Amino acid sequence: MVTRALVRKIPDSFTRALSAVGAASSIDPVLAREQHALYRAALRVDHEIVVEADEECPDCVFVEDTAVIVGSKAIITRPGAVTRRRETPPIADALAPYLDLVQMQEPATLDGGDVMYVNGKFYVARSARTNAEGIEMLRHWFGRDVVIPVGLPSGTLHLKCVVSPIDQQTILLADENLSPHLFPGVEILRVPREETYAANAVARSSHVVCAAEYPRTIDLLDAAGHHPHPVPTTEVRKADGSLTCQSLVWG
Ligand code: GLY
Repeated sequence: MVTRALVRKIPDSFTRALSAVGAASSIDPVLAREQHALYRAALRVDHEIVVEADEECPDCVFVEDTAVIVGSKAIITRPGAVTRRRETPPIADALAPYLDLVQMQEPATLDGGDVMYVNGKFYVARSARTNAEGIEMLRHWFGRDVVIPVGLPSGTLHLKCVVSPIDQQTILLADENLSPHLFPGVEILRVPREETYAANAVARSSHVVCAAEYPRTIDLLDAAGHHPHPVPTTEVRKADGSLTCQSLVWG
């Protein structure tokens, strides 16, 4: 099967991205693009789809939030942040040749970073970005029993800030954020609380793209038989970004 990744270039306006940490204005766009290139190379997919940047969309590099892809279907989301809603049409256009699209409608809001598919279930955060109608839409499309709403720790932007899938039976979960009991039947690789940021990683078979600044999590992945591929994240994190949010990967 052909593996594909959709990514989007970084605009100069990235320095005006949404940032709860309040550091976007200190982003170096040149360094951010260098780090993005390393990230793209580390994904090692067969086919990369690159969408041009839009200066009117400072957060547009964070494509994960614009779609949820499962099998041959892509749900084009309605992002929770009003300033991010115009990010979705070019992503829909880029995905249309490969996937069957459905469009989430008002009043639903949902960011793809709030959705994790693992062990046949959709774990979906009730967050500041994803509302009850957004979760209900997922239930409508995928089935009531397989959509599991999850509350987030205070101050957490997205579900995948604290947990991400390594494969269909394994997750990386940051200690003291979500209860491991939420994920029955799933093997849990426990990320130490002080490395919470590192719980967000992109896995392709045994190859895991992870944040370079967290040695304990890199060792943990290595010891569990995976192949960590560390990449620098100093610039995206200034805009509350991490690794999964920079791509849509499928296939
Ligand atoms: N800056 C990423 C977000 O707030 O969605």
